[in-house]
Amino acid sequence: MSVATSRAVLVAPGGGFEKVGFGERPVPEPGPGEITVRLRASSLNYHDYAVVSGMWGPSEPRVPMSDGAGEVAAVGPGVTEFAVGDHVVSTFFPTWLDGIPQVEGFATVPGDGVDGYARERVTAPATAFTRAPKGWDHAEAATLTTAALTAWRALHDDAGLKSGDVVLVQGTGGVSLFALQFAKAAGATVIATSSSDEKLERLRALGADHVLNYRADAAWGASAKRLTGGRGVDHVLDVGGPGTLEQAMEAVRVGGHVSVIGILTGVAGPLPLVPALVRQIRLQGVLVGSRRQQTDMIRAIDANGLRPVVDSRYPLDRLVDAFRHQESNRHFGKICIEI
Ligand SMILES: NC(=O)c1ccc[n+]([C@@H]2O[C@H](COP(=O)([O-])OP(=O)(O)OC[C@H]3O[C@@H](n4cnc5c(N)ncnc54)[C@H](OP(=O)(O)O)[C@@H]3O)[C@@H](O)[C@H]2O)c1
Repeated sequence: MSVATSRAVLVAPGGGFEKVGFGERPVPEPGPGEITVRLRASSLNYHDYAVVSGMWGPSEPRVPMSDGAGEVAAVGPGVTEFAVGDHVVSTFFPTWLDGIPQVEGFATVPGDGVDGYARERVTAPATAFTRAPKGWDHAEAATLTTAALTAWRALHDDAGLKSGDVVLVQGTGGVSLFALQFAKAAGATVIATSSSDEKLERLRALGADHVLNYRADAAWGASAKRLTGGRGVDHVLDVGGPGTLEQAMEAVRVGGHVSVIGILTGVAGPLPLVPALVRQIRLQGVLVGSRRQQTDMIRAIDANGLRPVVDSRYPLDRLVDAFRHQESNRHFGKICIEI
C-alpha cells in the first residue's frame, strides 16, 4: 500500500535561512489513537527563529515550527475526542499531558527534536492536539501552542495569580502580550514595558495600566516599584534574561515571583544574588506547559472572549521573510503563517 505524502518546509542540518527549502514527508493513515490534521497555520516564536536561523540548528533535516493549527481530516480507531472537521491546535510537549513538569529540553518538541508543523498534513497521536478556541481562525489558534501557554502557565500555575495582583510584562512579543491579556482578564493591574513609545500607546490600548520605556529608563525596575507605591509587583514575566533579570528583581515585592522565561538579551551573565535572598524572591524557570494546562487556558479564552494580537500573516512560502520581520523587532504580538 502506498503512503501519501505532504509538502513540507525542510531546514537542512545546521540551519540558516539559506538552508530552508521544500520537500516531502509521509502522511500515513491514522492508526489507533491517531488523527490526521490538515494544517492551516503556524506562528513564529523566538525558539523557531533559533532553529531556522541556525542559532540552534537541527542535526538532521527538520520540518520547523512548533505551533500548528488546522482541521481534523481523519481519525484512527479508538479516537473519541475529535471528529473529522474539528478545529485543533498542537501541543508543545506531545508527551507531557498533565501534572508536574516532566520533560527536560526540546528532544520531543515538534519543530526542534522532532518534525514540526510547517507542512500541509500530519498524522500524529490525538493527544498531540487539543481543540481550538471557539470562533478563532486557524492563524489565531496557532498562536496558542508556545507563546500563550507559556504566559498562562507562568501566571496561573506557577505564580498563583489573584485578582488585584500587580503583574509586570516586558516588551511586545507574543508571550508578553498574552500575559497582559490573561492578567487583565483575571483582574490584575499590569505594568508593561517596551523600547518604543508608539508601542507603549498600543499597550495602553490593550489594557496596560502603566507603561515604561525600558530603553529610555534603564532603572525601569525601580520605576515599576514606585508605581506600586513602593510595595513592589507580585509577578514579573522575564523574557529578557541576563540583561533584564536584575531590574526584574528590583521591581518585585518581598516574597514576589519572577518567571524566568526568555533569553532575548543572551544566555548567560552576572546576576546579583543578594536581592533574591534578602527579598526572598521566587525565581521559577518555565518551559511552556502541559496539554492539561492548554485545555484549561482554552476554556478560559472561551469564557472571556479573548482574541490574540496578530501582527501579520505570511504564506508558508514566505516563511523566511516572516522570520526577517521578527528579527527586525518591529512586530507587535504574533507573526502568523498561513498554509
Ligand atoms: N521558556 C519558555 O517556555 C518560553 C516560551 C516562549 C518564549 N520564550 C522566550 O521568551 C522570549 C520572548 O519570546 P516571544 O516569542 O514572545 O518573542 P518575540 O515575539 O519575538 O518578542 C520580541 C519582543 O521582545 C521585546 N524585547 C526585546 N529585547 C528586550 C529587552 N531587552 N527587554 C524587554 N523586552 C525586550 C521587544 O519588544 P519591544 O519592541 O516592545 O521593545 C521585542 O519586540 C524569547 O527569549 C523566547 O525564547 C520562552
